[in-house]
Amino acid sequence: MDADTVMARCDALQEHTEEPGKLTRRFATPALEAATATVEGWMRETGLETRRDAVRNLFGRYEGARDDAPAFLIGSHLDSVPDGGRYDGPLGVLTALAVVERFASRGERLPFALEVCAFSDEESVRYGTAYLGSSAVAGAFGDDWLDRVDRDGIAMRDALRAVGGDPDAIASCARNPADTVGWLELHIEQGPSLESEGLPIGVVTGIQAAVRHAWEVRGMAGHAGTTPMAGRRDALAAAAALVLAVEEIGRAMPDLVATVGIIDAEPGAMNVIPGRVTFTTDIRHPEDARLAEAMAAIDRAVAAIAGERGVGISSTELSADPSVPCDARLRAVLHDAIGAEGFPARDLASGAGHDAAALAAICPVAMLFLRCEGGISHNPAENVDGLDVAIALDVMERALLDLGARP
Ligand code: GLV
Ligand code: MN
Ligand code: MN
Repeated sequence: MDADTVMARCDALQEHTEEPGKLTRRFATPALEAATATVEGWMRETGLETRRDAVRNLFGRYEGARDDAPAFLIGSHLDSVPDGGRYDGPLGVLTALAVVERFASRGERLPFALEVCAFSDEESVRYGTAYLGSSAVAGAFGDDWLDRVDRDGIAMRDALRAVGGDPDAIASCARNPADTVGWLELHIEQGPSLESEGLPIGVVTGIQAAVRHAWEVRGMAGHAGTTPMAGRRDALAAAAALVLAVEEIGRAMPDLVATVGIIDAEPGAMNVIPGRVTFTTDIRHPEDARLAEAMAAIDRAVAAIAGERGVGISSTELSADPSVPCDARLRAVLHDAIGAEGFPARDLASGAGHDAAALAAICPVAMLFLRCEGGISHNPAENVDGLDVAIALDVMERALLDLGARP
């Protein structure tokens, strides 16, 4: 029954989008505000006390057995990638709310409060800031983030103000670790392992390390019809060589993933040799040391290509997140809960980034992955089965009860 509500709400939130016909919900946009307001309404219907913070995160609190008890945080994020799916983020927020509703409907109180969290930016699409919402909560909001500009030249501080946030009060978002028992997030797996093994749910072991950069290639613009091929300093051709070098490095090291996700050529005319190109890299590996080796290999490729092609190449680090293990004790609780629901508890590493990586700085963190169709995510075809969502709700409820029963 409540799984049906979760599914219907994931469907309903799709209406809040920046692009009609696609689900796109970036940080500090009216679409994200509308989705967050809708979820806040559902929280209030459930009887939760709601609060928005200075970076527009939303929290809904269900008190524990005594008022002002420390809180166990559960939830996910409400922003999306461009043309994304309906479950990446919202599924974690809405299952958290459904589980709290189970406790609320019984009037049952745990030794800790439950706080449903809906973070305003996990995907980093607009400003390249990984885990923006949860970083503010973890007291790790980057010093330079407010000054960053998006592709339209809008600074984060202005975007935030425009939707009612307060760039001067970011520090007030930080939670006291002493008031924070732990973090649990249910997320779609975004990969094919659970589906191929016929399992509905798994336990996340940890989140891999990730480094992101913005690159600039400076060549020389010129006439496409009159400039001889010899001696050209084509910034786009140099960037193309780099894109392929990044891919090759990614293929050569086991478990490394290396992606160029954005590329722009200037001045951007058919009859002009590109003089300047900007692009991004997103490089990830489960082990920090191996990721550092890969970055060194990319730096060597950059130096070689710059020399061969007579272009200047420079980069700015956008984010650098070390690998984060999930908490052993919370993982054991999740294993027990999945076992008690009659399923084998499969361990999985997370290739994707999640808010747990930021929140690990202030509390023990744990995650559950839910089987998703074809392993597809960051794509409108993202899909999950309502029956699996029902299993997830039972597992989450059981795990929280178990935690509440422990000293
Ligand atoms: C978030 O989805 C990420 O891993 O980039
Ligand atoms: Mn995502
Ligand atoms: Mn996500």
